[in-house]
Amino acid sequence: MLYNSSFLRCLIGSQLKPAGSAAAAAIWLRQPRQCCSLSSAAAAATAGPATAEIRYPDGKLRRLSCAWLRFNCRCADCHNAATRQRVISPATALAAGKSPPRLSQLPDSSGVRLDWSDGHVTEFAYSQLESLLSPDGGGSGRGRSLWTRSAGHPLEGTSAIRPVPLSELESAPSGLRTVLRNLWSCGVATVTGVEATEAATEAAVRQVAPVMPSLFGGMWTFTADGSRQDTAYGSDAIGVHNDTTYLHNGAGLQVFHVLEPAPVGGDTCLADGFQAAETLRQENAAHFHLLASAPVFHQYQEFEAGQPTHHTRCLDTVLKLDPESGGSLYQIRFNPYDLDSLAAVPQAEVAAYLAAYAHLSEILNRPESQVWLSLRPGTVILIDNWRLLHGRSGFSGRRVVSGCYVSRDDWTSRARVTGVL
Ligand SMILES: [Fe+2]
Ligand SMILES: [Zn+2]
Repeated sequence: MLYNSSFLRCLIGSQLKPAGSAAAAAIWLRQPRQCCSLSSAAAAATAGPATAEIRYPDGKLRRLSCAWLRFNCRCADCHNAATRQRVISPATALAAGKSPPRLSQLPDSSGVRLDWSDGHVTEFAYSQLESLLSPDGGGSGRGRSLWTRSAGHPLEGTSAIRPVPLSELESAPSGLRTVLRNLWSCGVATVTGVEATEAATEAAVRQVAPVMPSLFGGMWTFTADGSRQDTAYGSDAIGVHNDTTYLHNGAGLQVFHVLEPAPVGGDTCLADGFQAAETLRQENAAHFHLLASAPVFHQYQEFEAGQPTHHTRCLDTVLKLDPESGGSLYQIRFNPYDLDSLAAVPQAEVAAYLAAYAHLSEILNRPESQVWLSLRPGTVILIDNWRLLHGRSGFSGRRVVSGCYVSRDDWTSRARVTGVL
């Protein structure tokens, strides 16, 4: 669930005044300080009925909900350290949080101790509090480098990513970390020295994360034979888009390995969807807001002998923002081919929605937004499908491409455990 900052403020203020009133927020901000013994600059805190102010030794101030503090108590009664799962119930935390704890600094100054009115004791290291407030080191968008064609794109020039030889990926931790760091920072990574077969492509991908099963199978190898009812299985040009916008758990990575390039055409186009969305935010904030707030359906259908065999639909916004960071991009889900009839958009708002959508499309299709590549056998390219868009030019002759999807959860899990996120 997404909570914006004003919602959180109302939630905390609601224990003082009716939720949502401007007065509630103002009163909350003026809570009297109670822990006079902690008023020194290095000391810990001051508590109010619903919030506690915790000042770190470096002067940083955190104003936190008492219910939140109790909800996140890490003592053995409240949290199972072995499974890293919560024991305390939300109702218990809520009830206990109505009475402010007495705050004191830990003897070694590394954190804060909270003595609750029911006799319970909570201790937090300052670093632990920061971790709890920002559980996903990568979710905030830190470490990302948005790019355009001229402003240092990752596939050539001085800001190019380092291609990782398959031998390094297989044998050294640096290989995996480089792939994952490239994916997180730029949305793309390449692995070189891979035999031009589906099996070798799969083996390379599995060094990074498992292959994601989908309605197209696990690994796939396609030529322009029209074997699936998707534009990817033809030879026409395809504009930039995200894949699997019609799945609730849309593919996290798109993997391509061109086993046989087309004699003419068939180049690959990439665009940084987060950069395009930020450009949209600058050029027309209302357009950005509409695409980030109005959900639309995408869908995929297949038929055999006139009978439906696949029909997936997903309702979500084209732009998703990260609530932890207060609005950095979290996912772009852009695919005009798979966008449905706009059934979820009120008729009175369809024109405004289309104007916003067309504006984003126009930005994505500016030459400045797009980088073109001639992929060759031997190089596997991995693309963050929650951020980058891909497309291709039309081609003639035989062209064989192998690839697969990787789930977002699987590759970001590897990124966390290897210290990349
Ligand atoms: Fe695609
Ligand atoms: Zn506890």
